[in-house]
Amino acid sequence: MKNNKITDSTILVTGGAGFIGSYVVEELLNYNPKKIIIIDNFIRGTIENMANFANSPIVEFIEGDIRDTALLEQSISRSDYVFHMAALRINACAANPRDGFEVMIKATYEVADLCVKYKIKKVIYSSSASVYGLAQHFPTPETDSPYDNQTFYGGAKMWGEQLFRSFKFMYGLDYVALRYFNAYGPRMDTDGKYTEVMIKWLDCIKDNKNPVIHGDGSTTMDFVYVTDIAKSNVAALLADVTDESFNIGCNIETSLKELLEIILEVNNSTLEPQFVETKTVNPVSKRLADISKARNLLQFEPHVDLHSGLKELSDWYFKKKIKNQLA
Ligand SMILES: NC(=O)c1ccc[n+]([C@@H]2O[C@H](COP(=O)([O-])OP(=O)(O)OC[C@H]3O[C@@H](n4cnc5c(N)ncnc54)[C@H](O)[C@@H]3O)[C@@H](O)[C@H]2O)c1
Repeated sequence: MKNNKITDSTILVTGGAGFIGSYVVEELLNYNPKKIIIIDNFIRGTIENMANFANSPIVEFIEGDIRDTALLEQSISRSDYVFHMAALRINACAANPRDGFEVMIKATYEVADLCVKYKIKKVIYSSSASVYGLAQHFPTPETDSPYDNQTFYGGAKMWGEQLFRSFKFMYGLDYVALRYFNAYGPRMDTDGKYTEVMIKWLDCIKDNKNPVIHGDGSTTMDFVYVTDIAKSNVAALLADVTDESFNIGCNIETSLKELLEIILEVNNSTLEPQFVETKTVNPVSKRLADISKARNLLQFEPHVDLHSGLKELSDWYFKKKIKNQLA
């Protein structure tokens, strides 16, 4: 696929060995870039995630930390575009806010500063639906306020958006921020400390144990498949759009109870959900994205429905577990 903006460009992807980042790299490769530089410290990313492009002469992988400003400078000085995706997970930020500060805030500042210095043509910043906390309106438009957010992670993402906004205003740095809702798909973290609930349920199916739902399962989310997110990133680069934030979701609300039912169905499982009372209140009990802005300005359209996406995720998960058992 030929496109003037990407073809012959060098593109830096921070966090490119991660779940979403590795799909963004794959999507970019369809547009024949001159070079893709990846910086990832493997705190979550893996070599395995990059298997589909490990041998590509176009991709230069650097195992390194975005807190290393000299490394950032060495990479950004050679780049035309930057996808800034390296980040700590929401629970990791809560467990260690100082690390959160250094990665999400300080290193993001250095990224923005160097992007100005080296006249980067556009930055695509991975933000999050967490900026809203519990939103005021459903479906939630981008204009909802971030004041109900209570998490360090959501605050840091909002700060990142505002940082790029101010650098656009002061220095003309073009950027787009993408607020992903609930991302899922193959290459999700299956073994780490902070695995998502759908992975925990797949673990239950593997072990033939009834999957546990904490609470009544009425909490809702807006799930969006990882390849659709990757496409939104490339669309954000290609579109003639700057200084904007976009919700990236499916505009479909799914409760945890419904999610579990679909996971059981696609795996032909007869296990029964086990409801366990919980004292902890989830402050974000509902998520539903208004994606009309992304539809209009990025021509974004989610293509993978939850059934097909969960089938892909399940097949990948079981293949991986069998491979690990044999290893
Ligand atoms: N997964 C989701 O549901 C979701 C939702 C909203 C926003 N996001 C955002 O999307 C982006 C990608 O998320 P993901 O789900 O692929 O997570 P991920 O953890 O798989 O990817 C992040 C990558 O950044 C790397 N990284 C972390 N700290 C680093 C550092 N100091 N130096 C270099 N590399 C570092 C990790 O090793 C990892 O490969 C992140 O910015 C995340 O906050 C994700």
